[in-house]
Amino acid sequence: MAKTATLEIEGKKYEFPLVEGTENEVAIDIKNLRASTNGYITLDSGYKNTGSCESAITFLDGEQGILRYRGYAIEELAEKADFLEVAYLLIFGELPTKEQSDKFHNDIKKESAVDEDVKKILDAFPKAAHPMGVISSLTSALTAFNPSSVNVNSEEDMYKSVVRILGKMPVLVAWTMRKKQGLPLDYGDNSLGYVENLLKMMFSRPNSCYVQNPVLVNAMDKLLILHADHEQNCSTSTVRIVGSSHAGLFASISAGISALWGPLHGGANQAVLEMLKAIEADGGDTKKYMAKAKDKSDPFRLMGFGHRVYKNFDPRARIIKKAADQVLHDLGIEDPILEIAKGLEKEALEDQYFVDRKLYPNVDFYSGIIYRAMEIPVEMFTVMFAIGRLPGWIAQWREMRLRKEPIGRPRQLYIGETKRSFVPIEER
Ligand code: ACO
Repeated sequence: MAKTATLEIEGKKYEFPLVEGTENEVAIDIKNLRASTNGYITLDSGYKNTGSCESAITFLDGEQGILRYRGYAIEELAEKADFLEVAYLLIFGELPTKEQSDKFHNDIKKESAVDEDVKKILDAFPKAAHPMGVISSLTSALTAFNPSSVNVNSEEDMYKSVVRILGKMPVLVAWTMRKKQGLPLDYGDNSLGYVENLLKMMFSRPNSCYVQNPVLVNAMDKLLILHADHEQNCSTSTVRIVGSSHAGLFASISAGISALWGPLHGGANQAVLEMLKAIEADGGDTKKYMAKAKDKSDPFRLMGFGHRVYKNFDPRARIIKKAADQVLHDLGIEDPILEIAKGLEKEALEDQYFVDRKLYPNVDFYSGIIYRAMEIPVEMFTVMFAIGRLPGWIAQWREMRLRKEPIGRPRQLYIGETKRSFVPIEER
């Protein structure tokens, strides 16, 4: 017999089906709650208990610290796969064969040129503009240059949009950074791998030949993989909800980029580095900042710590911490900020406040240290997160379209004034 949950309201009982996922997680299906109870809704600010969709892309167990893309452990993918393989896996559900992988990469390369007029938009931004705002705008502008991308009912046009955005995003990212630095734009080199090409476009200098550093290529590949998807977080839910109105892929992703920008989400990687630099400038007194983080009258939070879902180690943070050590060692860099980060982590893991609240380092705690070693400007950190998260946003948007999900439209509990009469201005 199908399992159900019983809800009792004022003596009347209502049954709701239980839905089980493939990892034995259980949800109460309340689709018919409002209709069957004559108007009752659930209230769950911040959606701490609300499943917005069924998804076959990413499995996350926050209590045990497990993260898997399409069934594959993040640890294994970070070690053995490359970013485009992971992108293919997330978007299409299986690891690509050699043939599928070559075709995918070639299709992306064919789309890796950006219309020259995009430069005019880029030029219109002041140099001080935050790159996340610029990237969000340029991504949205891609729709104007590729009008067929709004056809969300054709699988063929969807595929074109997918390879287009994967092809053009590295160009937009690199150009945004170069414009800020006053460097001439680089058009990339399609004979290179995806990550190599991104690095070349970001770091080449007009007067010298760019030489790839395998340490940086590996580190970047790993970082992009670790950021590639994380199920229904703030930006991904944004992408899905915007796409649920049948808005095109580029518009949906532009909205996701804006959601990622905030310091409580992807913007935390920039905030972490700024925090570590501030602690260093203040004499490296980690205890002082630990006390501030615990003081409820102080708005300061230990950035890069805590997570809505992980109540255990974020598995990505473990991998990134190791990678940070490796990259700094391989590049021969001694960064005092890494020591401050390690010191903070050690103190936090032993501190009752952090232990009680199950606050562990998240993906952003160590990623900035690697970006800094790669000489990526701090303001670009969240943009690097965005390029990593791109396959996840695409996969989630595509899944939502193929499952023909309804438009996302939450309810609310109105707590404002009840009906009242208009008062003319002279009587107020
Ligand atoms: N420093 C100090 N205290 C914290 C921190 C922190 N970083 N994070 C949570 N807490 C405390 C809260 O004050 C709260 O304490 P209380 O129960 O005494 O009131 C308790 O832990 C629970 O915190 P919430 O804010 O309710 O947890 P929520 O799930 O809403 O927030 C979040 C999660 C936003 C990630 C939070 O931990 C945070 O602000 N962290 C710092 C920002 C950050 O690193 N964001 C990146 C997240 S990963 C990502 O998006 C890619």
